[in-house]
Amino acid sequence: MKCFAFLNHWQRRGAPRGPVTVEAPPVAPPQPEPSPAEELSLAGTSSPARSGSSGRRRAEKFSFRELAVITKNFKDSNCLGEGGFGKVYKGRLQTGELVAIKLLNLLGEQGRREFLLETLMLVVLEHPNLVKLVGYCAEGDQRLLVYEFMPQGSLESHIHDLPTGREALRWDARVKIALGAARGVSYLHHAMNPSVIHRDIKSANILLDDEFNPKVSDFGIAKFGPVGDETHVSTRVMGTYGYCAPEYAMTGKLTAKSDVYSFGVVLLELITGRKAFNTSARRNNSLVIWVRPYLRNGLYSAMADPALRGQYPERAFRQMAMAAMTMVREDPRSRPTMLEVVAALEFISSGSDASPSTSDSAARSGPATQ
Ligand SMILES: Nc1ncnc2c1ncn2[C@@H]1O[C@H](COP(=O)(O)OP(=O)(O)OP(=O)(O)O)[C@@H](O)[C@H]1O
Ligand SMILES: [Mg+2]
Repeated sequence: MKCFAFLNHWQRRGAPRGPVTVEAPPVAPPQPEPSPAEELSLAGTSSPARSGSSGRRRAEKFSFRELAVITKNFKDSNCLGEGGFGKVYKGRLQTGELVAIKLLNLLGEQGRREFLLETLMLVVLEHPNLVKLVGYCAEGDQRLLVYEFMPQGSLESHIHDLPTGREALRWDARVKIALGAARGVSYLHHAMNPSVIHRDIKSANILLDDEFNPKVSDFGIAKFGPVGDETHVSTRVMGTYGYCAPEYAMTGKLTAKSDVYSFGVVLLELITGRKAFNTSARRNNSLVIWVRPYLRNGLYSAMADPALRGQYPERAFRQMAMAAMTMVREDPRSRPTMLEVVAALEFISSGSDASPSTSDSAARSGPATQ
């Protein structure tokens, strides 16, 4: 599912028209753009900019030619997928490291700002549950981002429209993914000062490594959270239909709680297997609305993802559903913080290894999780 924005060129392709109409100009003044030729490094900081498997300390600058060569000139067969920003290609660096290369559809000044923002964010942010930036390319009008390759693709591709042969995620894998991703978002909100609000939390932006460890990706529209006495930041509304918190969508007033709402929608996707926003359904096309009557009436097994085949600990399922519902409350003040979400998921995770509610051995297949 693509992001949407409510201004000019950043309106994403194919995004359905939603109820959001308010636009407020960004409060932050435009950032000066450093020379693209400058290598992005964190000289003088105590922690390395990157400390991935290769121990790299800075985002590497690649030439367009280099990236064209390793993707066989951006050949379709190397394309991993396409989002609102452009296509993503798989490639192997000379060092042997596999990478995912996002070739950005550049649309003017705003596009260059988003490229820069994502690059700088990912150089500074460092957490096991955030995707790592290997490097970038800024040559003429070309802008490319080079990320560590995430072999299992997006969480979205494991819960919706599964390709033939792909097994559904088991319950314990779902809890593990939820907990890891929550830790990544919590790091943005609580370990950074000022906090970083991602603004596009969704299952497509949670990527999975070989062991189904999740990493949050796509920081191109992230914003710094309120500082001092501010209660929110005012900004142009951006995000993805079905995931966007109602108060933010209606007023442009952004707080960390709008990420919490989006994360709650991801949890609902994980337990129901349903999409955040179903464009084909005539009614109840929002998952948050669809799920409410089930929760009100305690119909947990009826809302569970059929692909789980009943293989989940009932108590943990109920706790996860209830946690998700607190996160998607209308009033942002009554939503939990991401620190509280992490604590809740740790608690749920500690009980999730319990025996599943039934013992259908067929449903035990699926990725190992621990
Ligand atoms: N680091 C990566 N490793 C492996 N696959 C990736 C990586 N980054 C992106 N992809 C894949 O590329 C595809 C497109 O990703 P992209 O982030 O451009 O779009 P999106 O998340 O679907 O939409 P949006 O542009 O709104 O974020 C997705 O299917 C994703 O799984
Ligand atoms: Mg994405």
